[in-house]
Amino acid sequence: MRKQVDDLLAARKEARLGGGEKRLQKQRDAGKMTARERIDALVDGGSFQEIGLFRKNRTTSFGMDTADMPADGVVTGTAAVLGRPIHLASQDFTVVGGSAGETHSLKVAEMMRGALKCGTPFVFINDSGGARIQEGIDSLHGYGAVFYENVKLSGTVPQISIIAGPCAGGAAYSPALTDFIIQTRKAHMFITGPNVIKQVTGEEVTADALGGADAHQSVSGVNHFVADDDEQAILICKKLLSFLPQNNTEDAPILDPDPYIEDDPEMRDTVPVDGNKGYDVREVIRRLVDHEDFLEVQAGYAMNIVIGFARINGRSIGVVANQPQVMAGVLDINASDKASKFVRFCNAFNIPLVTLVDVPGFLPGVAQEAGGIIRHGAKMLYAYSAATVPKITVVLRKAYGGAYLAMCAKDLGADSVYAWPTAEIAVMGAEGAASVVFKKEIDAAEDPAARRQELIQEYRNVYSTPFMAAARGLVDDVIDPATTRRNVAMALEILINKRELRPAKKHGLGPV
Ligand code: HXC
Repeated sequence: MRKQVDDLLAARKEARLGGGEKRLQKQRDAGKMTARERIDALVDGGSFQEIGLFRKNRTTSFGMDTADMPADGVVTGTAAVLGRPIHLASQDFTVVGGSAGETHSLKVAEMMRGALKCGTPFVFINDSGGARIQEGIDSLHGYGAVFYENVKLSGTVPQISIIAGPCAGGAAYSPALTDFIIQTRKAHMFITGPNVIKQVTGEEVTADALGGADAHQSVSGVNHFVADDDEQAILICKKLLSFLPQNNTEDAPILDPDPYIEDDPEMRDTVPVDGNKGYDVREVIRRLVDHEDFLEVQAGYAMNIVIGFARINGRSIGVVANQPQVMAGVLDINASDKASKFVRFCNAFNIPLVTLVDVPGFLPGVAQEAGGIIRHGAKMLYAYSAATVPKITVVLRKAYGGAYLAMCAKDLGADSVYAWPTAEIAVMGAEGAASVVFKKEIDAAEDPAARRQELIQEYRNVYSTPFMAAARGLVDDVIDPATTRRNVAMALEILINKRELRPAKKHGLGPV
């Protein structure tokens, strides 16, 4: 037995070396962790149980029968992160470029089935040259299985992709089917790379400009977090997991409650009364949530809306807030896409939504109309109306027109709606309204400019306040900003067991 055990241990050791010391060192020299180092950094010490170390591919052509491909280029297994189980896969670039052969992908798919069966999150660390070219259609068959499982897992267990190296071609669609993409600045994601683009269209572009982390954060909106390196990506992944439940049948863990819900007089100074002045809504968020701890999602994309996770009294919440500092906080195509997907995620995973409103409307313009703002803006209405988690809305300042409704108004099923005294809940701003409704009267006046100002003020007195909405029951209370945290915390406690039944159907047909 001793010999057999020694042989086994030697075989395990060798297999764990992946593509060998030389390639591992090359990876480290490039400033990257290896596949196994990434797992070690992510999971609780000693919790990783590898599955499939000795799995082999079954292709024989192009030297695949003799090629040394430990674990078929992907390390898979189960582990614990912050004490809770996950299933994971980590592609090993040192083994045939981490390319996804049939067995490689079927191993990944098997972990995903495990995640679904056991109700654990699934984390996939990507670092791969894409479909293993030597395996032809077999590699596509494997990838197809991964896509299929991605969709089955969707809305059932959280799926997080870390992009730590190349993620090219169709392979990029697996991360796209997951809930969150964390991309390092050493990684690239694209369907067709710079060389192919040059051949086909003649356009010249660098890999960074096309598929680098910053491009996908600020231009395409493909990724949700940018990390300088693997270490940072893993820290983000852990933090993100801490806000999430294990699956759609559970609530997120209550962590580190901060029962400090006394009044915060300084909250009164966060929002300028003058509606034309911008401010950073993240200051309001920080003051509202536990320990000022806010994990912003897609911070560099559609910055006119802010989304992210935080806690109030230890409970996870999803925050959606207009950002008056950027484009006056207007809703446009990208902001609608960004926020509506986030709302859908929070709803799927039982995370209450707290919406902070200061929105002048939907962005006017030919480009927005041509780009389908009707279709995209409707996603906000759909996502909020469909969400049955606790929905708490605080109107800070402007709440105009359709955008007021789209930011989780009472009519879209908000459970608790508060307004600050600075709130203006109206069909449009007083200036615009006066120009339309009182045009004849202004034109006929002796001093049109003065009369215009009078009528604007008159309109404002009636409609541009929170009190008309409060009188109609469209806001539950007009509150002192200083008590906002207490109001939201108390509403959350009451709503936490909220149950809302909807008619049974296969699925709705939201705008896409
Ligand atoms: C097989 C691959 C491979 C692949 C890389 N390798 N990609 N083997 N299939 N797709 C191998 C290389 O031959 C090399 O083997 C080793 O991995 C390391 O690759 P290098 O090129 O030396 O590394 P680097 O210079 O860092 O370049 C990385 C790379 C490049 C940018 C990813 O390798 C590359 O462009 N690969 C091809 C990408 C691609 O076209 N993939 C198919 C996309 S189509 P040795 O033995 O020399 O170490 C696709 C279809 C859809 O994915 C699939 C899902 C639906």
